[in-house]
This record gives sequence, structure tokens and C-alpha cells, in this order.
Amino acid sequence: MRTPIVAGNWKMNKTINEARELVTAMKNDLAQLAATGQVEIVLCPPFLAIPAVAALVQGTPIQVGAQNVFWETKGAFTGEVSPAMVRELCEYVIIGHSERRQYFGETDESVNKKVRAALAQQLKPIVCVGENLQQNEAGQTQAVVSTQVRGAFRDLTRDQARGIVIAYEPVWAIGTGKAASGVVANTIIESAIRRTLAELYDESTAQTIRVQYGGSVNAKNVTEFFAQPNIDGALVGGASLVAADFIAICQAAVKCNDGRRMTDDGRRTTDDGRRMTDD
Ligand code: PGA
Repeated sequence: MRTPIVAGNWKMNKTINEARELVTAMKNDLAQLAATGQVEIVLCPPFLAIPAVAALVQGTPIQVGAQNVFWETKGAFTGEVSPAMVRELCEYVIIGHSERRQYFGETDESVNKKVRAALAQQLKPIVCVGENLQQNEAGQTQAVVSTQVRGAFRDLTRDQARGIVIAYEPVWAIGTGKAASGVVANTIIESAIRRTLAELYDESTAQTIRVQYGGSVNAKNVTEFFAQPNIDGALVGGASLVAADFIAICQAAVKCNDGRRMTDDGRRTTDDGRRMTDD
């Protein structure tokens, strides 16, 4: 059983004070939801707000992530932040978000370097992949996504691979209000992402790695994604900046996971995912 993971990518939004306000408004609800063990919840504020957010969620099961990281450990890299620095306050780090690929020249190669550097510091990467509109319309989605997965996972061992979360985010769905359909996203994840992982490693690794959907996820459409067997949570942008919406999305994850546990393989499972003995 893969535990769903919902991460809020705040992007370049919220000053330190605004971040405190937002976290204060959602903290109790999110902590309760995360405490069920049915969803992992990660807040990814801008770097400067990370200390304030980390302090507020300390002692709760809510986790913190960064939105980027550099691959070198230290030195003359003005403006960059190292994995060890991020690890002091964060469990997760988003790597290769399409906005970083689009505006800051990130490539599959730099994504791979960052993933390896993050893993070396026990940071858990959330690696973003996804096709743009032109690639989608040209029927290249599978090839593009598969190439991005191969690039990000290059030279990683099976054990390292298992610690990574992938976010499938079609670029045309990000911030546009035009989400992919749950069925289509599920198909891409199955046919491009899990199949590629199975080729790189094995079927069990492909089934172990969690894959989120991202792109215009909101409190209304989220169930459509969480109901899909290959989708293990969401990477949420705009809706993660509204306390009630982000709480509702995390609630939906818990509810859907409950449903999945009951129907996994059409059989009841125990709390830790083992089949009950009556089958
Ligand atoms: P969105 O962003 O939810 O605002 O579309 C998602 C993302 O970029 O991770």
C-alpha cells in the first residue's frame, strides 16, 4: 500500500508573516489528518518562510519541504541553497518543477544532479515531470514523460529510487484551471511512469514509488484524481494558499485512502495493508 502524499507548493507567495497566518489557520486540521497515518502532508513555502513554518509545525506530523535545492554541498555559488542547509529544516524538496525547467533552464541532467545531492543528505525528492501543450497535442506525452523519468533516475539504485516521489504535472494544466482528467492522468502514470520504472528497476519498485498528480487540483476536482488506482496524492499550487481548500484536499486524500484499503484487490485489508486472513 502506498500512503498518499499531498504537498502544497506555495511557489513565490507569502511573506514570513503571511506564511505564519496561513499555517496557523490550517495547522490543527492538517495535524489531525496527518496523524491518521492515511496521508502525508507537506508544506513547501519559499525559503525565507521555511524557518517560521517549520517552527509552527514542530511536534506535529505535518512535514516541510523546499521548492528547490542546489547540487553542490557548499562554496562560491551565490544565491544557491545546499541540500545540507535544506535538510536542517525540511524532510522533502521539490525538484525539477516545470517552472524551474521553463524559466531557470533546468534540464533532466540538472534534475538528476539535484536528486542525487538531495538523497545524499537524506532529503526526500518530489521530482516533477510532465509534457507541455505542444508536446501533448503532438502525441508525445508518453515519450516526453518517460524520458524525464529516465533522466531524473539516471544512476540511482533501486533503494534510492524507492525513496523518491514523482509528481506528474502536465504543464498545460498548471495554474490554468484546466486540470487533466483523472482517467487520462492515471493512464499516463501507468503507461509512461510506472512502466518506465519497471524497465529501469522491476515491477515491485514501480509499484512502490508514489506518484502524485499536479495541475489545477482544487477542493472540487480532487476526488477524481484520488479515486484513481495509480495516483497517490497531489502536488497543489494555487489551492494550497487557501486554508479551507488545502484542508479539504487533505481530507479527500484520507477518505479515498480509506476506500482504497477496503477495496484493494477487491479484498479487505488490515490497517497496515496486509490482507485479512479470511481470503
Ligand atoms: P496549480 O500548480 O495547482 O496552481 O496548478 C501546481 C504546481 O505547479 O505544482
